[in-house]
Amino acid sequence: MSNPVPLLAARGLTKAHGRTPALRGASVELRPGEILAVTGASGSGKSTLLHCLAGIVRPDEGSVTYGGERLEELSEKRLSELRRTEFGVVFQFGQLIPELTALDNVALPLMLGGAARAEARARAAEWLERFGVRGQEGLRPGEMSGGQAQRAALARALVTGPKVVFADEPTGALDSLASEQVMTALTHTARESGTAVLLITHDAQTAAYADREVQLRDGAVVPLGVSA
Ligand SMILES: Nc1ncnc2c1ncn2[C@@H]1O[C@H](COP(=O)(O)OP(=O)(O)OP(=O)(O)O)[C@@H](O)[C@H]1O
Ligand SMILES: [Mg+2]
Repeated sequence: MSNPVPLLAARGLTKAHGRTPALRGASVELRPGEILAVTGASGSGKSTLLHCLAGIVRPDEGSVTYGGERLEELSEKRLSELRRTEFGVVFQFGQLIPELTALDNVALPLMLGGAARAEARARAAEWLERFGVRGQEGLRPGEMSGGQAQRAALARALVTGPKVVFADEPTGALDSLASEQVMTALTHTARESGTAVLLITHDAQTAAYADREVQLRDGAVVPLGVSA
């Protein structure tokens, strides 16, 4: 286990939003089944890195390799297939579809994958329960608290059994008890199924659930040993 082949690797990513540099040569590796925390100050490029790794945003320079495939060389069709079948993403903001109930938001990825509505809804209900959303299945995102919406978004990211879960501040709207509950559910599920997790967080208590932590500063990973 000393140096297994990474499942996902970014090398030398750069990305600017207009004239604002968000990533300046970021490199990071995620091993199979690993829970990796990415920390760093606000604006250090964490969300941009996640979007590049998940194949949502194309970096300006550098490469992202997933299981031997270079994302920048893939067609839009193959990329969206990867995102649908292998990746689960929890966005930092605005992640749920406002017109759908919590239950249907979570059932949607299963239905897009071909599952029947009743089956998809039954599995969605189990996942909501796992993340402590009970009795709120029928609420729409506008009727839910930030924390409830965040849990529903996590359930939606995990419901299809992805190989990698990308979670951008999944405990950002939760108090410490709810954070603990959500992180326990997330890490148990990941360990059980061998799912790798890229976990973005500001919170040291949340980062402590990870196997390893890397810190971003000004769009690049701080080398080991100089994180103070
Ligand atoms: N869509 C955008 N348009 C313009 N600038 C952007 C955009 N998205 C991000 N940026 C800028 O890029 C830099 C990195 O942003 P990013 O969202 O990746 O940081 P972050 O580490 O996730 O921050 P936070 O902890 O606040 O979520 C910041 O300077 C930010 O202002
Ligand atoms: Mg962010």
